[in-house]
Amino acid sequence: MPTITFIQYDGRVHSVKAEIGQSVMQVAVDNQIPGVVGDCGGNCSCGTCHGYVDKVSAAKIPAADSYERDLLSCASAPTEDSRLTCQIIVTDALEGMIIHLPESQY
Ligand code: FES
Repeated sequence: MPTITFIQYDGRVHSVKAEIGQSVMQVAVDNQIPGVVGDCGGNCSCGTCHGYVDKVSAAKIPAADSYERDLLSCASAPTEDSRLTCQIIVTDALEGMIIHLPESQY
């Protein structure tokens, strides 16, 4: 099980074990990580699972599709590192992934 680290906007750090095949959003929700909401349950329709993915890990996951990019453009404070964490599926390759969380999901 790879370890994923979530860093809240205020700097608090949460490192958790992630089950292969789950979405990163589900990992965060299951571990009650503050700052990840996941209102739509992972259907890529709410944008409340926004996070900033470290560049090393970002290179190991498929690029965002046009629908995800459109939704991210409406997220709070998007950057080039922004992803919807419900669209990232955990694999062994994601060991050490770091997700910085935005100040707000709304
Ligand atoms: Fe709704 Fe990711 S949980 S877009």
